[in-house]
Amino acid sequence: MKFFSLIAFAALALASPLEKRASVSDVATLGYATLNGGTTGGSGGSSTTVTTLAALTSAVTGGAKKIVIISGTITGNTVVRVGSNTTVIGQKGSSLVGVGLRVLNEKNVILRNIKISKVLAEAGDAIGIQASSQVWVDHADLSSDRDHDKDFYDGLLDLTHGVTGITVTNTKLSNHWKASLVGHSDSNGAEDTAITVTYANNYWTNLNSRTPSFRFGHGHIFNNYFENNGDGINTRDGAQLLVENNVFSGDKDSLYSTDGGFAVARGNDFGNTTNEAPTGTFTSAPYSYSLLAVGSVKASVVANAGQTLTF
Ligand SMILES: *[C@@H]1O[C@H](CO)[C@@H](O)[C@H](O)[C@H]1NC(C)=O
Ligand SMILES: *[C@@H]1O[C@H](CO)[C@@H](O)[C@H](O)[C@H]1NC(C)=O
Repeated sequence: MKFFSLIAFAALALASPLEKRASVSDVATLGYATLNGGTTGGSGGSSTTVTTLAALTSAVTGGAKKIVIISGTITGNTVVRVGSNTTVIGQKGSSLVGVGLRVLNEKNVILRNIKISKVLAEAGDAIGIQASSQVWVDHADLSSDRDHDKDFYDGLLDLTHGVTGITVTNTKLSNHWKASLVGHSDSNGAEDTAITVTYANNYWTNLNSRTPSFRFGHGHIFNNYFENNGDGINTRDGAQLLVENNVFSGDKDSLYSTDGGFAVARGNDFGNTTNEAPTGTFTSAPYSYSLLAVGSVKASVVANAGQTLTF
């Protein structure tokens, strides 16, 4: 009897998104965000709950240590600037519609459990991180639609202008044209060679391109699940990527290079595609981590990615 209820519970857990309890004071524990003093955001600071665009905009401003909790649906046509030493948390069921978040020239920011959709290109990216360091994006749900032309919306998660110490985990990117751009342009190597990004346990689905497009820096991409995308991981302009235990299903591409990008690929399931990227030199990440077996990636990522935390 006990045995059967355990099986039933396990089946239920796999069938529906897992709900996990988390603390608003959590700090980054994985990837590049853990280096250089770590990423603590507003942990230990005051905590405010916001339900309007005006309250959100003012609560996240400035470098004081603070935790800002989003409740309900906030609608607009803008991008809100988030200051340093800040954690922004989405409550279960909350969402930003047409409202993106931008981290520009800041340090030590956590964006967690936030659902963002349909941010118009005229406003900016759903999440844009530029010229900043130590940023952890976790359990975000980023999407729009593909009913318009590719420039109606801009990026879902763009990491540019020399960002360092970035970790993106348990995030769902879906239904969009241009998903995740890393590195500003082909001529921005002076800034962008410093880039360091970890992408782990993310769910990328129904995206046209940039899954991600990665220029110049170092990227560690592991345990992601890619499904029905029109593009793959594009390593560009001398980027050095370490690509491990990812799964690709129904994608047009998996891993390839343009303009002399490189990758070390290990343990991936490339689906019906092949790895076309030249082998690089990035063989060992500068932090410890454990890899999920490739056969468990799809079920685990699909169940966990997105706004699945409760606080
Ligand atoms: C962020 O917090 C650190 C540590 O308290 C402090 O040194 C730094 O000045 C703060 N940053 C800003 C922009 O206020
Ligand atoms: C892999 O399958 C997908 C979906 O059927 C298709 O769009 C894509 O072109 C295929 N890729 C290759 C390299 O055959």
